[in-house]
Amino acid sequence: MGDTASISYNGETYEFPVIEGTENEKGIDISKLRASTGLVTLDLGFKNTGSTKSAITYLDGENGILRYRGYSIEDLAENSSFLEVSYLVIFGELPTKEQFEKFNRDITQHTLVHEEIKNILDGFPSNAHPMGVLSALISSLTAFYPSSLDPNRSADEVYMSIIRIVAKLPTIAAWAFKNELGHPVNYPDNSLEYCSNFLKMMFAIPSEEYKPDPVVADALNKLLILHVDHEQNCSTSTVRIVGSSHASLYSSISAGISALWGPLHGGANQAVIEMLEAIRADGGDVEKYMAKAKDKDDPFRLMGFGHRVYKNFDPRARIIKKAADTVLAKLGVNDPVLEIAKGLEEVALKDPYFVERKLYPNVDFYSGIIYRALGIPTQMFTVMFALGRLPGWIAQWKEMRENNEPIGRPRQIYTGATERPFVNMGDR
Ligand code: SDX
Repeated sequence: MGDTASISYNGETYEFPVIEGTENEKGIDISKLRASTGLVTLDLGFKNTGSTKSAITYLDGENGILRYRGYSIEDLAENSSFLEVSYLVIFGELPTKEQFEKFNRDITQHTLVHEEIKNILDGFPSNAHPMGVLSALISSLTAFYPSSLDPNRSADEVYMSIIRIVAKLPTIAAWAFKNELGHPVNYPDNSLEYCSNFLKMMFAIPSEEYKPDPVVADALNKLLILHVDHEQNCSTSTVRIVGSSHASLYSSISAGISALWGPLHGGANQAVIEMLEAIRADGGDVEKYMAKAKDKDDPFRLMGFGHRVYKNFDPRARIIKKAADTVLAKLGVNDPVLEIAKGLEEVALKDPYFVERKLYPNVDFYSGIIYRALGIPTQMFTVMFALGRLPGWIAQWKEMRENNEPIGRPRQIYTGATERPFVNMGDR
């Protein structure tokens, strides 16, 4: 009998198994709690609750460690490509040369989207936030590829559904941006690698020859790798719970895009730049905004700071901060908000409020500064996060389906009115 945990309740003692992961994480398996005790647990925001067992990503929040399928984020960001890391996360192993060439070829053949998707796109006003456009157009893929609706179809069908969305998301994301500008869309250029093709679809204009800058493409490749997966975060948990009802991959991803949009989650990268701009417009008074961030009566938070899991530096933030200096220098960009960001970080890391609460810069704190230097507009920052996170969402959805996990259906503690008789309106 392995480790167990005891719960004593109502004069009885109940034993529950303690399970251990490959990195020695331990959890109490309470799957029989209600049947044996009549009790459920309550854990707002699931701060102490594991929803699944997963072999995809390992986080160590205390030590600032992030690994995809055992490979460190530092190694992958330095040595790999976004598509290679996508293959690793989705299929579990780094691809051989042949496997990668086939994966890349399959994706290249599916970068076009159905022309009728442009009719849906044209229905959006140009002030539509690109995240809303992205979520809607990804959901519309269920109409153009009805075979994707049944996630229990053959492995080949699931593979094709995966290839189509990896191939088409960049096209749809670039089209959402062109819709915001009121400009004509660009079609994929399959002679280019993934990041260069995306940049060309984003920034090419009919009258000019557009050559993607390799410095920009390389920086984008690194940023996308850093966003690929992050275990059971808000949007990934959304993808899993939607997929657990046997809804299709595209419906699940569309829901994940909506969850990522929130400013407490992926929307933070846009909120960080808006915050830095506001501080700059207000004379760059860092101390004033630090005081606001600590004032419980002030709704202002230091966006890009804090994390549910990391109680140390987010390793991605370290890499992005270093890349920001390199990319801005290479591009000859001098962005005053970078200095404001560094000033905020310096003050926060010494401030007892932040130190006591272990609030450090997270992935969103510096990413917007690089996106801006790459010419990507603020409203597209969270779309860039979705582009990077897509392989992780796919991998987590696929793992949940392959493990045949049950439909997600949490319990609750009811606090409403107890039973009472109906009263006719005339008598109320
Ligand atoms: C992402 O989960 C993931 O892995 C997400 C992500 C991924 O890759 O998928 O890493 C991506 O979403 C990163 C986080 C981006 N969001 C932000 O930068 C928004 C600002 N951060 C906070 O809103 C907050 O830190 C969260 C939402 C990220 C985490 O919130 P928690 O874990 O629920 O913690 P909490 O809100 O309970 O805060 C604990 C304390 C509170 O103070 P006390 O009540 O103890 O006095 O810390 C304070 C909070 O008020 N606090 C902050 C703060 N973040 C937390 N105070 C000021 N500024 C902040 N940013």
